[in-house]
Amino acid sequence: MHARFLLTAVMAATIAVSSFISCNNNQSGTTSENKNDSAKQLLERGEYIATKAAVCIDCHSQRDTTLFSMPVIPGTEGGGAGFAFTKAEAVPGVLWAPNITPYALKDRTDEEIIKTLTTGINTKGDTLFPIMPYHSYGRLTKYDLQAVVAYIRTLKPIERTVPERKFFIPAAMFGPLPAANIENNTMPDPSDKVKYGQYMVTMAACTECHTPMGPQGPDFSKVFSGGFVFDNAVLKVAVPNITPDSATGIGSWSEETFVNKFRANATPEVLQTKPGRRNTFMPWSMYGKMKEEDLRAIYAYLRTVKPIVNKVEKYPE
Ligand code: HEC
Ligand code: HEC
Repeated sequence: MHARFLLTAVMAATIAVSSFISCNNNQSGTTSENKNDSAKQLLERGEYIATKAAVCIDCHSQRDTTLFSMPVIPGTEGGGAGFAFTKAEAVPGVLWAPNITPYALKDRTDEEIIKTLTTGINTKGDTLFPIMPYHSYGRLTKYDLQAVVAYIRTLKPIERTVPERKFFIPAAMFGPLPAANIENNTMPDPSDKVKYGQYMVTMAACTECHTPMGPQGPDFSKVFSGGFVFDNAVLKVAVPNITPDSATGIGSWSEETFVNKFRANATPEVLQTKPGRRNTFMPWSMYGKMKEEDLRAIYAYLRTVKPIVNKVEKYPE
């Protein structure tokens, strides 16, 4: 039922958007206008989530490693990653972020895609490696998930298939699977800055990189304290501590410093790396375009997490 709703919504939105572009002074009936409005809003929300907040498009596209924060190569959006995740990203094997354009997902219903996004189990019954942040997405609202699916269905179909994943340990070692029941997930009101910020941090899956790795995988008792070192052919960079510890985390950063850093790191000038400038895997080019209110809320939430003393050298030799 929802699948049908969404397909209709996408079709309506496509029509709404194209008629908006071609003849935006076209008069239409109020009811269909309202329907078009909500379909348009759904797509806008989906685009925001996929390209700025949850950055699906960051992982699922080819990236320009010569530019700062490795922005997506235009034209490859959603067509699958250009490089494999390996040991350097704490993967016990080799895997690629697959194609999520309509070329790859056209035969799946919205429910099937949402189930994969929230439980990590794909239509073949395979468990996805948790680099795909399904533990986080299982906590998003149904509306936000429907929005993302509506948006990825509008991506240009790219005929490309990434290689099959290869694991050196049994996939059953991925840890407990979330039995995501998204029906009761809610988005806190933005006026509750801390709670809303927590929702945005969940959506953005900041914990993916900013949680240290223990022998059993991510150590959530030290969440946000960083320390994981990405070390691959492209770059060696350690993930910093973003807990409110003043000496080793971002406790001394003001809200302005925090927001300005995101904004500054997504400007066209910064994205063109100067010789000698150190690169990063933090997807600033996308996160830096998040709404002001969302960045401020993320800051507010990060102020409330447990301060952890952990000194991280960003660029270890
Ligand atoms: C940190 C990188 C990363 C992010 C962010 C990410 N993904 Fe993924 N995604 C992956 C990887 C890697 C896989 C493959 C995992 C595997 O094969 O075990 C995957 C798998 C998938 C699949 C399963 C495809 C299939 O063939 O079954 C879908 C659908 C998907 N992602 C959609 C999304 C959407 C939508 C978002 C944003 C809401 C997103 N992903 C965000 C890395 C990511
Ligand atoms: C793909 C991995 C990844 C993700 C996801 C990620 N980060 Fe980062 N982050 C890094 C790395 C690596 C650095 C260090 C290099 C740099 O400064 O860009 C970093 C740096 C930072 C810094 C600068 C800290 C300092 O001491 O200079 C802040 C603040 C930050 N991240 C916050 C966040 C927030 C908030 C999120 C979620 C919205 C997030 N990160 C998601 C990898 C990531």
